[in-house]
Amino acid sequence: MKIDKACKEIIISEEKIIETCKMLGAEISRDYEGKEVTMVGLLNGCNPFFSDLIKYVDLQIVVDYIKCSSYHGKTKSSNDVKILKDLDQSIVGKHVIIVDDIIDTGKTMKKIMEIFKVKGALSVEACVLLYKETEDKNKYNAKYVGLSIPNAFVIGYGLDFQEHYRNLPYIGIISDDLIKEEN
Ligand code: IMP
Ligand code: MG
Repeated sequence: MKIDKACKEIIISEEKIIETCKMLGAEISRDYEGKEVTMVGLLNGCNPFFSDLIKYVDLQIVVDYIKCSSYHGKTKSSNDVKILKDLDQSIVGKHVIIVDDIIDTGKTMKKIMEIFKVKGALSVEACVLLYKETEDKNKYNAKYVGLSIPNAFVIGYGLDFQEHYRNLPYIGIISDDLIKEEN
């Protein structure tokens, strides 16, 4: 299938994504003025959001990455969060902002935040581009959220389906044909 046929509907344009990055960057810059901040991207989904977001953060930040896995290639979340690549730098005494593409069940983010607090971070907050509106209204939410989306599986701009489609410049709802191929 050609990549531009992977979405049945584009829900967030490139322009809207950049506008949202600017808004989040300004908010973070204001809240953390004068503080030492480490921004941690959750690989691989944080990319390219992380790269765009940090351009609009007007602070002296340290950039680091962590990689964990919870989806195992499916479109439904599983409970165990495994650390596949840990931080390179110490976060002891640092204000940490974890950056990811999306909050779905919120389990990944909640788990990583707990791990970072145990590691000795002074404060830990999360920033995501998307928040998925699911039935669970009590799930963990990030302090910094770009946009809310309906409860559908989305791809593009870092979000993958079986490791594909992260390179789409926009975000869209996955086509029914691709979902059928999984089942
Ligand atoms: P959570 O732990 O259920 O919040 O899942 C978060 C992770 O699942 C994110 O980092 C994404 O990588 C992945 N994820 C959740 N929803 C979607 C989606 O609609 N498309 C692609 N990946 C998703
Ligand atoms: Mg991810």
